[in-house]
Amino acid sequence: MIVTQDFMLANGLSLKNRIVKAATSETMGDRTGNPTIALFNLYQKLAEGGTGLIISGNVMVDRSARGEFGNVVIDQDSNLELLKRWAKSVENHGSHFLLQLNHPGRQAPKTLNPRPVAPSAIAMTGPNAFAFNPPRALELVEIKAIVQKFAQAAELVEAAGFSGVEIHAAHGYLLNQFLSPAVNQRHDQYGGSLTNRMRIVIEIYEAIRARTKSNFTVAIKLNAADFTPNGFTAEESLKVMQELAKRGIDLIEISGGSYENPKMMGNGQGATFIEYARIAKQTVETPIIVTGGFRTEEGIETALSSGDTDLIGIARPLILQPELPKKLMNGKMQPVKINHFSTGWSWLDHRVGSLIGLAYYEQQMARLTAGKPISQPRSAWPILIKAVKEQGLQALIPRRG
Ligand SMILES: Cc1cc2nc3c(=O)[nH]c(=O)nc-3n(C[C@H](O)[C@H](O)[C@H](O)COP(=O)(O)O)c2cc1C
Repeated sequence: MIVTQDFMLANGLSLKNRIVKAATSETMGDRTGNPTIALFNLYQKLAEGGTGLIISGNVMVDRSARGEFGNVVIDQDSNLELLKRWAKSVENHGSHFLLQLNHPGRQAPKTLNPRPVAPSAIAMTGPNAFAFNPPRALELVEIKAIVQKFAQAAELVEAAGFSGVEIHAAHGYLLNQFLSPAVNQRHDQYGGSLTNRMRIVIEIYEAIRARTKSNFTVAIKLNAADFTPNGFTAEESLKVMQELAKRGIDLIEISGGSYENPKMMGNGQGATFIEYARIAKQTVETPIIVTGGFRTEEGIETALSSGDTDLIGIARPLILQPELPKKLMNGKMQPVKINHFSTGWSWLDHRVGSLIGLAYYEQQMARLTAGKPISQPRSAWPILIKAVKEQGLQALIPRRG
C-alpha cells in the first residue's frame, strides 16, 4: 500500500506515511489567543493515531482580526513557552506539525470584528452575509504590515519548534480575497492582473523564507478554484502554484471539493477536482496534498496510485477516528460515515446547517481532548444547545460565507 510508505520533502522533512491531518479550527485558544492544555491534548491524540503530518486549525497573525471565538493568535505578545508545549505535543509519535497561518479579511463576523478589512470595500454576499459587516479597503502600508505579520508569526512558530507553517490562501479568507477578481478590485500593484492579485501571497512566502531557516517547511492551501462567478479560476490557481513552485515552496494543499465524489465539483465552470489535481501534479514538481472527501481505503489508494497526489489530506474522519492511520496500516480501516444533522425543519437547516457542521466537529475535538468517546446525536438540537450554552447566542452567528 502506498499510503503506508514514507515520503521525503525536498528540504529533508521525512513523513512516516502519506496521511495529512487537514486543518480544523479547534477554537480552543484562551482569551489572550494563547494555546491551552486542551490543544496540547488534542494534538497528542492526533499524533498517537499515527498521522504523518498534522496541520493545526487556522491561527491568526493579527490580534485585531480574528475569524472565530477561540482562535490562537501568534504575534509578539504570544507566550513562547506555551507555543513550545504545543509543538512538543506531537513528539514521541514521529509526526510532524505545521501551524496554519491565516488572516480572515472580510470573513470575520461582526460580533468579533465590527470593522473588517479586505482588498476592496466589497461586502460578503449569500445567505450568511448578514453576519459580516462590509469591509473597508486596506491601505498599501497595511498590506505591507500584514505581510510582515505572517513572517513574524512564522519566525515565532520556528522558534517554538514546529516543523513549519501552512499559509491559508483558500476558503474565502484574506489571501483568497486578494486572489479573487470578484473581491479584489484594487487599481494598484495588488489588484487587476493575476500577477498583481497574487503579489501578497508571493510576498508573504518570500518574507517567511527570509526570516526562517532553509529546512523550515512552508506549505500553502489553495482553492482548486473558487467556483463562483468572476472568482479565482482553476487556470489561475495553477499559475499561482507555478510561481510558488519556482520559488521553492515545500508543499501545496489543494482544497475545494471531493476526490471520491467529483460530481460535486463538476459544475461546468472549470476542471473537475480530479482533473485539477492531475494537471497540478503534471504542472509542478512540488509535492501535492489533495484534501476533501476521503472516506475509504480504496479512495485513498486509488488517488495515490494514480499519481495525481502525493499525500492525502483528511479532516473530519480524523476527528471521528484519530487512530484511522493506524487502522489503515493494519489493513483494518472501515469506510468512515460523515453524518449530517438536521433540526427537522429544512428552512432552519438551510440557515444554520453549516454552523451545525462546524459546531459538531468542534464539540468532538473537545471530547477527544477530554478523553471522551465521539458522540452521535440523532438530531442537530443537542449540538446547537451545547454550542449556545458554551458560547452564548453568538454561537448562532455564521463565521464563514
Ligand atoms: C470544524 C472544521 C473546521 C475547519 N477549519 C479549517 C481551518 O481552520 N483551516 C482550513 O484550511 N480548513 C478548515 N476546514 C476544512 C478542512 O481542512 C477540509 O478542507 C474539509 O473539511 C474537507 O475535508 P474532509 O472531507 O476530509 O473533512 C475545517 C473543516 C471543519 C469541518
